Parts: sequence; structure tokens; C-alpha cells
Amino acid sequence: MTRPRPDTCATIAEVRRAVAAARQEGRTVGLVPTMGALHAGHLRLVEKARDASGFVVVSIFVNPTQFGPDEDFRRYPRTLEADAELCSRGGADLIFAPEVAEVYPTGPSSTFVEVPGLSGTLEGASRPGHFRGVATVVLKLFAIVGPDLAFFGTKDYQQLAVIRRMVEDLNLPVEVRAVPTVREPDGLALSSRNRYLDPDHRRAAVVLSRALSAAAGAVEGGERDADRVRQILRETIGSEPLARLDYAEVVDAQTLEPAREVGPGHGTVALLAARVGPARLIDNAPLRG
Ligand code: PAJ
Repeated sequence: MTRPRPDTCATIAEVRRAVAAARQEGRTVGLVPTMGALHAGHLRLVEKARDASGFVVVSIFVNPTQFGPDEDFRRYPRTLEADAELCSRGGADLIFAPEVAEVYPTGPSSTFVEVPGLSGTLEGASRPGHFRGVATVVLKLFAIVGPDLAFFGTKDYQQLAVIRRMVEDLNLPVEVRAVPTVREPDGLALSSRNRYLDPDHRRAAVVLSRALSAAAGAVEGGERDADRVRQILRETIGSEPLARLDYAEVVDAQTLEPAREVGPGHGTVALLAARVGPARLIDNAPLRG
């Protein structure tokens, strides 16, 4: 089915007007926050939002406050035309693509949100300040759009945990829905940063999902010691010369505290970050047993 191109707006006033009009018609509002460079993983989020809401807003904003000084903020791919096409395919009603000054009217080091506990480990340890930037911009988007539902990928497992905690702690009137990771046929999790990979690095990048499958397989096969699962993750990543491990962890699925045991009744998840050539990639998988 061909759908009309969703409207694109750049100001808070426009998005509020459009959302108010949709509410007047009794429609529920779903928000899909993104940084653009959209792929089939984002598309899945938009489709889920479409299924569950009467009015779907996709935000496209490369948020400066979640990037470290040596990270890829400047070269992060910006592909608004193609993004609009994909939003249209997913059935979005409105794209909100603001400039930095619209979102941060008094500058990027203004009021912020900190979600303690969940923000300091894993990605937070490797990328100081990252989750402060994520939580702050997501709270801003919630305040700007006022959605009933907001959709996030399990691909960014810790981000999802941080946002859920923020919503709970701040009593925000929004329901967070998680969407499972969409993968390439060989297992590589879709990511906007996969665009940085040349063919050799692309082949090598599959090692992350291979490591997670090996870990999950070991737990299914009866492994109960979290340290041995960490070792499987490290060894698998280590077997790929083009990949450099950042962290390989097995944590409690709720608290993100390091786990000692895995298997039935333990609710653990394995998380990985590795650099493959120019791209820093993350992935995760539940360990069910
Ligand atoms: P971005 O990396 O663009 O991702 C936007 C959303 O798409 C996130 O919820 C992410 O988890 C989800 N996503 C990414 N890859 C996916 C995949 N392969 N399968 C399913 N979902 C996937 O995450 C961010 O932007 C930003 O931090 C943001 C929340 C927008 C705040 O700036």
C-alpha cells in the first residue's frame, strides 16, 4: 500500500499543534524516538507504533549531548530524505526533525536528567555522560510530544532499562514498549553505524551475534557459571582479528548488576560492545537456559 508522505516539522509549536489536533479526534499518540539514518530495525518500531496508536510521531534528531567529545557526532549519517521514505512505508503520520537550538534553547549543558545506578556500568562506563544525554533528550521529547506510548528497541538494552527507570521514577504518563532486535540474515543486529563498515569489517562484525549465540547455546546446554559464559563471549570475539572487545558482560536483566549464575530462574542477559574497524557496535541476548 502506498501511503502519503508524513508531514515533517522542525518546531515544537508545529508538533504540539499536530498532536493536539490528533487528540481532538480521540487518537492515541505513539512516539518513536530516533537519530535518523533509519533502517529496517527502526521501521519495525514505526510499524509497532502504527499498530498500537492512532497518530504516530517519529522524531529524528542526532542528539549532541549523548556523544562524547571523541565520538561520531559530526560524521553520524544524516539521511532525512531516505528517512522520510521509510517513515512513510511504516505508516508514520508526522516526522519531528528539529535543529539543536530548538531542543536545547539555552544550550546543551542546561538542565539534565541523571538515572543513577543503571547509567554508570557497561555503555555508561565506556561512554561517560552518554545516558545523561539520552535520558535528557528522551524526557524532552516526551515533554514536547506528550505521547501515550513510546517505542524503543531491545537492541539498546541498557538504554531501554534507563528510560523505563526514568519513566517510573519521574511518574511520567507514558507507556514504554520494547521491540525485539531486527537482524541481518547472518545475525548482525541492524544499526545505523553498520554504514561505517567496509566489506571485510562487515564480514567480521557478525562475530558479536556469533558470540551471543555461543553463550546462549552454552546456557541452553546446561552451563550455569556466569564467568564461563563471559569467557565464551571473550574467546569468540578474540577469534576475530578485526574485532576489538570493549566489554563482555553477563548481568541481571533488571538491575544490570553482574550475575554469578545463569540459567532457569535467573533472568540474565549477555551484553557485548566491540570495535570493528571504524564502528563501535553493541549487541545483547537473553540467557534463558
Ligand atoms: P537510534 O540509534 O536511532 O535508535 C532509535 C531506536 O531504534 C532505539 O530505540 C533503538 O533501540 C532502536 N533500534 C536500533 N537498532 C535496532 C534494531 N536492529 N532492531 C530494533 N530496534 C532497533 O537510540 C537512539 O537512536 C537514541 O539514543 C535516542 C533514543 C533516539 C535518543 O537520542
